[in-house]
Amino acid sequence: MHVLVTGAAGFIGHHVSARLLARGDAVIGVDHLDPSGDGRLMRARLERLQALPGAAGFSFHRVDITDGPALAEVFRRERPERLVHLAARVGVRSAGAAARAYLDANVTGSLQVLEQACAAGLSHVVYASSSSVYGAGTPPPFAESASADHPLNVYSATKRASELLAHTYSHLYGIPTSGLRFFTVYGPWGRPDMAPLRFLRAIRAGRTIDLYGEGRMQRDFTHVDDVVEAVLRVLDRPPVGATPYRLLNVGRGAPVSLRDFVGVLERHLGARAVLNLLSAQPGEMEATWADVSALERETGFTPRICVEEGLADLVAWERQHGASLTASV
Ligand SMILES: NC(=O)c1ccc[n+]([C@@H]2O[C@H](COP(=O)([O-])OP(=O)(O)OC[C@H]3O[C@@H](n4cnc5c(N)ncnc54)[C@H](O)[C@@H]3O)[C@@H](O)[C@H]2O)c1
Repeated sequence: MHVLVTGAAGFIGHHVSARLLARGDAVIGVDHLDPSGDGRLMRARLERLQALPGAAGFSFHRVDITDGPALAEVFRRERPERLVHLAARVGVRSAGAAARAYLDANVTGSLQVLEQACAAGLSHVVYASSSSVYGAGTPPPFAESASADHPLNVYSATKRASELLAHTYSHLYGIPTSGLRFFTVYGPWGRPDMAPLRFLRAIRAGRTIDLYGEGRMQRDFTHVDDVVEAVLRVLDRPPVGATPYRLLNVGRGAPVSLRDFVGVLERHLGARAVLNLLSAQPGEMEATWADVSALERETGFTPRICVEEGLADLVAWERQHGASLTASV
């Protein structure tokens, strides 16, 4: 299969690309190497893809997904059959200050991707949404049937908007779309701006960790290997019906408080964290918790990696690669 992966230089995109290549699919990677991100890390991920045994099946295009003609040219040249759309401006906290950039990448960009996918007659578009769309007032564990109409920040609003656009395109043009609501993904080659790597590096360096919500906030931390397994299983099973559209949670289904998360890191690192307990910031959810019964029903798969095991993996990776990739931390 020829699969176009947007955000291929990103954390999840590069892992998805690696697994697709490993099973013999051809991957057309698209990414504009977001200047607001960590350029060295993105290039290192691409170099890793280009060195894998299946690398002959990998092509890369440095294209901004908001640039319709450039994206159309990639589709024309590469003729993808399916698409995994992961490119986005990410992060909850910085979204307020850069609302327009989030809207451009996540809404206009997703629209361009859907338009090209329809024009090319792709048989399935799988795209990343986020647990943050559940916003305020959703009873845990979060089920896909909950309203998700009260996002608490601009990032979440753009993710919800991209779900609504996908529904419209599935309805109007019959293109099968699957939106995956990822819950706090962590693992090797992860994002230095996210808590797992930030906390890990702070503990190792003896730096103070600002712990919002006084450490009581809970996150349903999900290891990237589980996420990749879910993406591939969903990709292989396009939705059917008059409007071939679905939304699925992809989370471990076992929330952990930030304090406990730090505790697991402390044990793995054999060092104590210095904590600065702060009140919660506006725009952040108190807890996230995935109901993964729909994912299990549709794919036969439930994420299984607990934080004990997942953080051991992250710590081992960081020991090997961290020093050369800590430029932006
Ligand atoms: N990591 C998580 O915990 C998490 C949780 C929920 C949802 N998600 C979603 O999963 C997807 C992947 O997230 P990630 O953690 O791998 O983030 P990431 O920042 O590592 O990857 C995103 C990639 O998209 C690229 N990109 C951004 N704007 C682009 C544009 N206009 N054109 C082309 N490329 C562009 C960036 O250069 C980057 O390489 C995103 O859609 C994100 O919103 C991630």
